[in-house]
Amino acid sequence: MRFFIDTANVEQIREAWELGVIEGVTTNPTLVAREGKDFQQLLQEIIAIVDGPISAEVISLDSRGMVDEALALARLSPNIVIKIPMTAEGLKATKILTAKGIKTNVTLIFSLNQAVMAARAGATYVSPFVGRLDDVNADGIGLVRDIVDAFAHYGLDSKIIAASIRNVGHIADAIRVGAHYATVPYDILLAATKHPLTDQGIARFLKDWEKLK
Ligand code: G3P
Repeated sequence: MRFFIDTANVEQIREAWELGVIEGVTTNPTLVAREGKDFQQLLQEIIAIVDGPISAEVISLDSRGMVDEALALARLSPNIVIKIPMTAEGLKATKILTAKGIKTNVTLIFSLNQAVMAARAGATYVSPFVGRLDDVNADGIGLVRDIVDAFAHYGLDSKIIAASIRNVGHIADAIRVGAHYATVPYDILLAATKHPLTDQGIARFLKDWEKLK
């Protein structure tokens, strides 16, 4: 499984990029609004750091508006991936952008039907929201597993991004069920590097090393 970082914070993106673990970045309107910067300027800053896919979300609700926004965003860099909400209009926009060779990430996916339809429309990536399904007592990782199985069965090429990752357990679960990617907030990415036995092991090695002196 590969990693994206799920943030629009440039400092976090720089730190995560230096870790050597992430392949790219996913943003959404909430994450961008949190930074309080002009969207295109923010994307330019991210593009300067990350040499990989950068998902930027459109906010129009009609396919024409989505496509217009997408074309402006795609001009910033070939690494820009257009994030599109999973609606009928979003599917139309996905089809148009795919035909133009622009990559798409169909987001806000909460069902198997939505995932397969997005893939059929040509989505480069589909993003099922694990945490938000768990929030309503549904099985977020179960949906990712179903999508992995269905895409394999039907030979669908779209890559599956486990999104709305809320804890390190979600990352391990996404790996177990065969998600292609997880997009992970910075604090959870860092938490996943750690294990108490690693820290204890380092402390013991250093203590033993001291005995050499
Ligand atoms: O980027 C979409 C997704 O990862 C949002 O996560 O925690 O707001 O449900 P969350």
